Amino acid sequence: MDLKIAVLPGDGIGPEISAVGVDVMSAVCEKFGHNVSYEYAICGADAIDKVGDPFPEATFEVCKRADAVLFSAVGDPRFDNDPTAKVRPEQGLLAMRKQLGLFANIRPVQTFKCLLHKSPLRAELVDGADFICIRELTGGMYFGEKYQDDDKAYDTNMYTRPEVERILKVAFEYAMKRRKHLTVVDKANVLASSRLWRQIAQEMAPQYPEVKTDYMYVDNAAMRMIQEPKFFDVMVTENTFGDILTDEGSCISGSMGLLPSASTGTSTPVFEPIHGSWPQAKGLNIANPLAQILSVAMLFEHFDLKEEGNLIRKAVDASLDANVRTPEIQAEGGPQYGTKEVGAWIVEYIKSAY
Ligand code: IPM
Ligand code: MN
Repeated sequence: MDLKIAVLPGDGIGPEISAVGVDVMSAVCEKFGHNVSYEYAICGADAIDKVGDPFPEATFEVCKRADAVLFSAVGDPRFDNDPTAKVRPEQGLLAMRKQLGLFANIRPVQTFKCLLHKSPLRAELVDGADFICIRELTGGMYFGEKYQDDDKAYDTNMYTRPEVERILKVAFEYAMKRRKHLTVVDKANVLASSRLWRQIAQEMAPQYPEVKTDYMYVDNAAMRMIQEPKFFDVMVTENTFGDILTDEGSCISGSMGLLPSASTGTSTPVFEPIHGSWPQAKGLNIANPLAQILSVAMLFEHFDLKEEGNLIRKAVDASLDANVRTPEIQAEGGPQYGTKEVGAWIVEYIKSAY
């Protein structure tokens, strides 16, 4: 298969994990005879510094003509501490999502046996937890009408029927491919937008009679995720709730550095870790590249290249088992590995696998 990949390293630890992701991608393509090419583009604070725009038109063009985008992270403390900044790195990420029509954000929460003790939850609660959060990504408060002056501000949480229908369709289809249990997360006891979601979900559910569909208020879902993470199989929710719940979900695994995501929609799909740019770690070679590497696995799986995805997952498991881990998940007294070393080990594993 020919694969044209747009690579957007971004800010902070982005370039370091991006380099590892590309190496892994290349190793897998070589092994399976795929013809991969890369086109690099700027985004985030890096792009603000260079051209004054966190998602320049040229970057959009690179993304549009690619088969997939391998994205890393954006964000810079220079902007975080300045509420009056007119342009922010995160706007680049939002512009990318909107312009590529990436309405469905798939965030799997999985656990690794050898890292159960890293979770803040008791191992028996976490062991075997495996669910997917499907987050609506181009609507709701993130993109609704906004207003701000010194005395008043608001963000509008607007959803239209087609927006809700298309994301619920994705969710029902995921549930069909998995354990056939869908939880629709909303705040229908308070919010009109949530009531529309619930109404449409109830209309659609009979089309998927094999799927057990239940409805849960977001406050309750936040609690249930901690009390009984194994309850969930597929959950679907609107943009803001999904943002919050997926950070919570990442804790279940024991490190934010482990969780990948895929965003799909009407144009080129994007594959990225769910963690941010961790500016304090920039250049220190300590960032965990596994979320980025697993994003590459999701990229292959998106194109139905299952063996390729599996090999990456096997390599990641093997690296953890062999104690080849970055500092935050390192076994006590274990050997020291950096971003690059973990990446190189995994590339070697892929090359020598048969
Ligand atoms: C995420 C991030 C982004 C979001 C930020 C960086 C704008 O937190 O991908 O979850 O809120 O969507
Ligand atoms: Mn977030």
